Amino acid sequence: MCGIVGYIGREQVSPILLDGLTRLEYRGYDSAGLAVFHPEKGLQVVKARGRLQALWDATQQGQAVPGTMGVGHTRWATHGAPNDINSHPQVSQSGKIAVVHNGIIENYVKLKEFLEAKGVVFASETDTEVVAQLLEYYYHGDLLDAVSKVLHRIEGAYALGIVCADEPEQFVAVRKDSPLIVGHGVGFNMIASDVTALISYTREVSYLNDGEVAVLTRDSIQVYDSLMRPVTKEVVHIDWEISAAEKGGYEHFMFKEIMEQPKAIQATISPRIQNGQIVLDELNITQEQLQQLDRIYVIACGSSYHVGMAAKYILERLLRIPVEVALASEFRYSEPIVTERTLAVVISQSGETIDTLAAMREAKRLGARILSIVNVVGSTIARESDDVLYTWAGPEIAVATTKAYSTQLAVVYLLALDFAKKLGKLNEQEYETLVAELEQLPEKAQMILDHTEEIQYFASIYFNHNSIFFIGRNIDYAVGLEGSLKLKEISYIHSEAYAAGELKHGTISLIEDGTLVVALAGWNTLFEKLMSNVKEVKARGADVIGVATQTHAQKLSTQVDSALVIPDVHPMFLPSLEVIPMQLFAYYVALMRGCDIDKPRNLAKSVTVE
Ligand code: F6R
Repeated sequence: MCGIVGYIGREQVSPILLDGLTRLEYRGYDSAGLAVFHPEKGLQVVKARGRLQALWDATQQGQAVPGTMGVGHTRWATHGAPNDINSHPQVSQSGKIAVVHNGIIENYVKLKEFLEAKGVVFASETDTEVVAQLLEYYYHGDLLDAVSKVLHRIEGAYALGIVCADEPEQFVAVRKDSPLIVGHGVGFNMIASDVTALISYTREVSYLNDGEVAVLTRDSIQVYDSLMRPVTKEVVHIDWEISAAEKGGYEHFMFKEIMEQPKAIQATISPRIQNGQIVLDELNITQEQLQQLDRIYVIACGSSYHVGMAAKYILERLLRIPVEVALASEFRYSEPIVTERTLAVVISQSGETIDTLAAMREAKRLGARILSIVNVVGSTIARESDDVLYTWAGPEIAVATTKAYSTQLAVVYLLALDFAKKLGKLNEQEYETLVAELEQLPEKAQMILDHTEEIQYFASIYFNHNSIFFIGRNIDYAVGLEGSLKLKEISYIHSEAYAAGELKHGTISLIEDGTLVVALAGWNTLFEKLMSNVKEVKARGADVIGVATQTHAQKLSTQVDSALVIPDVHPMFLPSLEVIPMQLFAYYVALMRGCDIDKPRNLAKSVTVE
């Protein structure tokens, strides 16, 4: 959601900004722009609505906008339509200060009125323009001083890149509740909203904390805290391969990432299993704290929330501790019952989702211990947690998550088994069997990925449907939620997921001739019950795709129109296998409908506004 890139150095900045923005495209946006300083031309601002290609074209691949210092932005519209006036950079009245901004300035209306009363004329509908105008109002020859004054007046979430034509030897970056990273180069320095925009130029980065302000020149980066006291930042080396953030011959990032799942699951579990024993060195939680836990909250959004739904079945089954799964956006407003004996398991691929971050801070404030499962190293959620278990999925670029979901599940299994062992809830033999099964998951996932033709064929039969239902019981229901979300996100087909037994309490009225129902029947002991639900929908005219394990392959094929068989697996690990045909089905359906798979409409990869 919105992307920021900034550079100061010796190279032509526009192509660097455009390249960085291209690498941030996946975050979601609807317009883009650049502000570049040139000694003779002053501050040049170019914006273009729509895809980034329009900005590449408008600037002649960056060549038409010379200069060696500037900032760029991809905007996901919040305040005001996505047009050239509302796009960023937003400039002050005189045109000498330009600002790019991610987040929302909550008190912008009041500030706008204040400035208008002083005669300032606004050009856009954005909250961001208030920052540019306010900076000019406070600017008396010292940009840092103006920034510090503005920070006292603005409320909300922001990452800001600020350039001033009167101070071309530096630019300023600020962060509060919205990610921003500083990249250390030789003879240049950069900022970006995530590392993918930086790694072709530098792998040495520092993460800004809330309230910090960075002043970048070609040869130095000075960071200040919110009281403008200099602070020394840790420099972290990023070892992600650049190729991991490129398509590598695949048509879509989503397909590449689906295919990478066995490798990603392997990378997540292998280093943590030694001689058949799970070793989670990263955890700081003590045996005593573990024994005192009387409630677990899993807090997350979207697909990460669906991992949480699966986690509930797994953790409760193994630990016999009550687990509540909370949508992060609801958690804060639900007066949650949290004590010092509560563990909050916070799940987030990006580690920057603002709803999740806010809910996590609330849980912490109420006394919970925070254990997060995060993919992006150094992200805010990771840094503010008591314990972090990283998923080693590598960069996930497609908006619709696949490999991050799978690695989050893998971490949930590791965590559940480790805690169960430590709490004496599993005997040695059960533990060993489950760990051995876990180790086989990458291979079983690969078996499904080796035969995508069948799923592609089913997609070709059903891609024209307007309404698709997913049903399942127990953990299969959690997978149904994810299957339905994948389909909705990228193919725009209306879809719902239901606990199979619940359908007849209302939703079954929507089933008519030709409605497609995807029935997840992996949970072996519930197979027959699920088949009864299949009969109910078939009796009302539905076409059914059924998913079950090898054990029930034969029976399944007699009950459904299209059968998808996955390898036999312990029910606890079902989501990891069942989700793959769901992802592939959504992918192929979207492909056949001609959808923009990696950048679905209205969506952003990292959701940094509430
Ligand atoms: C769906 C999807 C979203 C995210 C959600 C949370 O494919 O990607 O639903 O799961 O926005 O994002 P993270 O995990 O980054 O907190």
